[in-house]
Amino acid sequence: MIYYFSGTGNSYQVAKLLAYLTQDKMQDISTLKDCKHDDSVMGFVFPVHCYDVLDLMQDFIKKLEIKSDKKIYCYAVVTCGGKVGNTFITMQDLLKAKNINLAYRNEVYLPDNILSFWGKKYNYNSLNTYKDKVLKIAEELNQRKTSNNVLVKKSWWYIIKKYISWLFINKCLQKKTIKKNCIHCKRCVKLCPTNNIIEEAGKIKFKSKNNCIYCLACIQWCPMQAINFGNYNLKDKQYHHPEVVENELFKR
Ligand SMILES: Cc1cc2nc3c(=O)[nH]c(=O)nc-3n(C[C@H](O)[C@H](O)[C@H](O)COP(=O)(O)O)c2cc1C
Ligand code: SF4
Ligand code: SF4
Repeated sequence: MIYYFSGTGNSYQVAKLLAYLTQDKMQDISTLKDCKHDDSVMGFVFPVHCYDVLDLMQDFIKKLEIKSDKKIYCYAVVTCGGKVGNTFITMQDLLKAKNINLAYRNEVYLPDNILSFWGKKYNYNSLNTYKDKVLKIAEELNQRKTSNNVLVKKSWWYIIKKYISWLFINKCLQKKTIKKNCIHCKRCVKLCPTNNIIEEAGKIKFKSKNNCIYCLACIQWCPMQAINFGNYNLKDKQYHHPEVVENELFKR
């Protein structure tokens, strides 16, 4: 079973290809209340957020119940713009607490979906090369390969960078608004993994209590570009993986 999360489709596309190439099933973790794992393969596919494992995935792993008495082959494949930071060390620690060994890990570079807020252009080059990397990963997974280089301990540099970037993102992108050109298509409501967007009295609104995890699904998929995140808005066009359609990521 492949457990995945994706905001703008990069990780979904990688999970979909891996599921096909390794003949496995896949499950969106944001639609699961609880989960009992009873398979001999356990895969995780998700985006790197702030040099680490996003809280949604951390909470999912902490709650995951292991029902299998077979030896589990466990792997993590992340998508990112270029910096994995402490992601695999955190994964290793979370899984160790469940008596599971993270046998294999790898990363797939894809366009960094947050860059446009900081006035930078997306780099689309990785869209030409990522499939070769996924094919190689699938081949290694089918051979049950293990990653040989040992992960030692967390880097303080990345822990500091994680908190600085998280504070920065929270400060800059917290105040969210929906503009008048919203056509009430409810795409954002269906995409939000934390139920942070609701329809109330015929209006689409962000909840007053902010439980946004900054997956960017709402702002990157809105057909009218009607969503604003604070004063830092998308400077470049919207980005989502070109081979994914939004219905594939709907949560409800
Ligand atoms: C809040 C946030 C933080 C991010 N932090 C990192 C990071 O630390 N390192 C990195 O290489 N990419 C980072 N990215 C880029 C994403 O990891 C990358 O675009 C990923 O492929 C998106 O996957 P998705 O389309 O499945 O959501 C970040 C993106 C967001 C939205
Ligand atoms: S996705 Fe955009 S247009 Fe559709 S309901 Fe949300 S804000 Fe309105
Ligand atoms: S409100 Fe936040 S968590 Fe919900 S879709 Fe938008 S960015 Fe993602």
